[in-house]
Amino acid sequence: MSDILKKNNGLRILVTGGAGFIGSHLVEKLIDLGASVTVIDTMLCGNKIEQRKEGKNLSVHRLDVTDTQAIAPLFKGQDMVFHLAAVVGVEETQDEPVNLLNVEVIGTSNVISLAARNKVKRFVFASSSEVYGDSVKPMVEEGPFNPKSTYALTKLIGEHFCMAYYQKFGLEYTALRYFNAYGPRQDDRFVLSRFVNRALAGQEIIIYGDGNQTRDFTYIEDTIHMTLLAGIKGEGINQVLNFGTGKDVSINVLADMVLTSLDLKGKVKTKYVDYDRRRSLEIEVFNRIADTTKAETLLAYKPITGLESGLQKYIAWYENRK
Ligand SMILES: NC(=O)c1ccc[n+]([C@@H]2O[C@H](COP(=O)([O-])OP(=O)(O)OC[C@H]3O[C@@H](n4cnc5c(N)ncnc54)[C@H](O)[C@@H]3O)[C@@H](O)[C@H]2O)c1
Repeated sequence: MSDILKKNNGLRILVTGGAGFIGSHLVEKLIDLGASVTVIDTMLCGNKIEQRKEGKNLSVHRLDVTDTQAIAPLFKGQDMVFHLAAVVGVEETQDEPVNLLNVEVIGTSNVISLAARNKVKRFVFASSSEVYGDSVKPMVEEGPFNPKSTYALTKLIGEHFCMAYYQKFGLEYTALRYFNAYGPRQDDRFVLSRFVNRALAGQEIIIYGDGNQTRDFTYIEDTIHMTLLAGIKGEGINQVLNFGTGKDVSINVLADMVLTSLDLKGKVKTKYVDYDRRRSLEIEVFNRIADTTKAETLLAYKPITGLESGLQKYIAWYENRK
């Protein structure tokens, strides 16, 4: 990857959602590789790039992607746009469906049309494995699609925007269907980080249902590596790609791994609860595992961090964070 990025040194890149979990890691990597980065983020869930000083290579704008007038000037002269801004988290997406639709549909429509108008070279869209719902195992890019939530539906709409803007305006895109990314800076809206946070606080680990639901976890360094390759390599153009590891683990096994890694087995309890209004059964996707063939072939990259070592890295970060 370094060769490709060296050639692209000095690129101007706009990242929406750049103060979030994946966005902040992406922004840091881009700056380290010599790009000039502009961030748009409401920072409603905090600012995860605050330790990076603004300057020649980084400008950060606390703006909302639904505010076309405010964000429009920032697209001038950009080479690429990574659109990651989104309302994320099961509860957040269920609690305010109108806001979700606004951000994901109006916001994405604003961002992609500004990208096309400003003739950026590549538009990278953060989609999600949620688009599949309960589907085949492993999930393949062609579907079937059974989106179970508004969030999932809006990600499919976003992908369709990408295809439509390519057809109408020639805007080259890559849509990335992230499976469960995890790692430093992830907050406890997400299962793995929530388990670690609660266990370390001596609180019981809560599992919805029977814990046999499965997920495909990707360590953030692999997620960022693949995101950059997909955005920069020619092979990623006009492709929709699964970003997972191709290995799944049940929530029961995950809970056990977390407690074992923390040496808290037998000391912290696991509690099983029924799905409820906040975490509803209707939107639960029971089995999630990526078919990674397409991404691995096109990008010539395979995730390298296994769940056990990624978990250790996350725990080390968590215990040493300031
Ligand atoms: N983390 C995962 O495992 C995962 C899985 C599937 C898809 N994704 C997608 O990847 C992207 C990044 O996810 P993340 O895990 O970093 O989540 P995150 O919540 O940490 O980051 C999203 C960022 O978007 C910002 N944002 C929200 N609404 C906005 C608005 N109206 N205008 C501007 N900024 C706004 C938030 O403040 C936040 O910083 C999202 O599009 C998400 O849907 C993530």
